[in-house]
Amino acid sequence: MTTTATGALAAAADAARLAPSVHNTQPWRWVVDGDRLELFAAPERQLREQDPEGRLMVLSCGAALHHALVALAAAGWKAEVDRPAGAPEAGEPLAIVRAVSHAAADPHDMHRLQLLQVRRTDRRVVTDEAVAPAALDALAAGARRGGARLHVLNRDQVLQLAVMIEHSGEAEQHDERMRDETKAWVGGERAAGSGIPDSALPAQNPRTTVAERDFGVAGTLAAGEGHDNAAHYAILYGEGDERPDWLAAGEALGELWLTATGRGTAVLPLSSPVELDFTRVALRRMLGDTGWPYLVLRLGVADPEHAGPPHTPRLPAADVIEVRG
Ligand SMILES: Cc1cc2nc3c(=O)[nH]c(=O)nc-3n(C[C@H](O)[C@H](O)[C@H](O)COP(=O)(O)O)c2cc1C
Repeated sequence: MTTTATGALAAAADAARLAPSVHNTQPWRWVVDGDRLELFAAPERQLREQDPEGRLMVLSCGAALHHALVALAAAGWKAEVDRPAGAPEAGEPLAIVRAVSHAAADPHDMHRLQLLQVRRTDRRVVTDEAVAPAALDALAAGARRGGARLHVLNRDQVLQLAVMIEHSGEAEQHDERMRDETKAWVGGERAAGSGIPDSALPAQNPRTTVAERDFGVAGTLAAGEGHDNAAHYAILYGEGDERPDWLAAGEALGELWLTATGRGTAVLPLSSPVELDFTRVALRRMLGDTGWPYLVLRLGVADPEHAGPPHTPRLPAADVIEVRG
């Protein structure tokens, strides 16, 4: 068991490597210094074309922060987190975590870490079994604990979303620079430890009402013959559209996904409609202009009988974690 604060913080940063991130860019960097762990964005891994303002980069960092805090709790550490408000200068940390005291780990916290270790993005079609209303409520509560909200779309809104996603997908496909950016991160074996490998991508994109993201690459994943009739679609949203809000959205995504994994609910993020202004505005309208959309999520029950995709690779710890002193 990890007993020193420095060791626990380094282990937490290591566990946070498992966090989901847009195109598996892992756009974070950690510095461990004594009893302090600092989280930075890694703009060198930002999607400059699809995410010029860094929303999805910071959101991904928020998911990593969530994972680090779950790992610290699983090791019995109480932590304090400072999330500097406003728009910090480039190079300032997004969050500072301090390990303050240690006690015997709670088995519930240890189980939460195990859930993060099995979590993954599953692009297979969902089964015909609907996610139970109680599970949807639990996911919404998870999002709230993380600092954001979940709006589950009604049938009419799902049809509107299908059109929106078609439009945002087409716009991105027609943009050569966006296409090149996707090519740089998606497909192949991804031996360097980032990006989405063929094994996580459907061999053929399923024919669903709301299309999955077309990465322009055929993968090797048997995605199944089904449809998305039983899927729910939801918008993760919140009150603001600044860096601290995007960080909170990532923490909310982490907590929602952890809850979903525990309940056998598959989560598929769909970010193309938030990447483009015209569809982001349309999503905001769906929220009655009461919030800012951070991410669209497909929620469903995955085929329990066949294995899902293998885990996607991660960058070596030495590339994303620096231990000082
Ligand atoms: C902010 C964000 C946006 C994402 N957008 C999409 C998307 O549009 N389509 C998709 O298939 N997966 C999307 N993903 C899933 C990532 O590709 C996935 O997390 C990453 O490849 C790592 O794989 P894993 O989740 O299985 O660990 C997104 C994830 C995050 C955190």
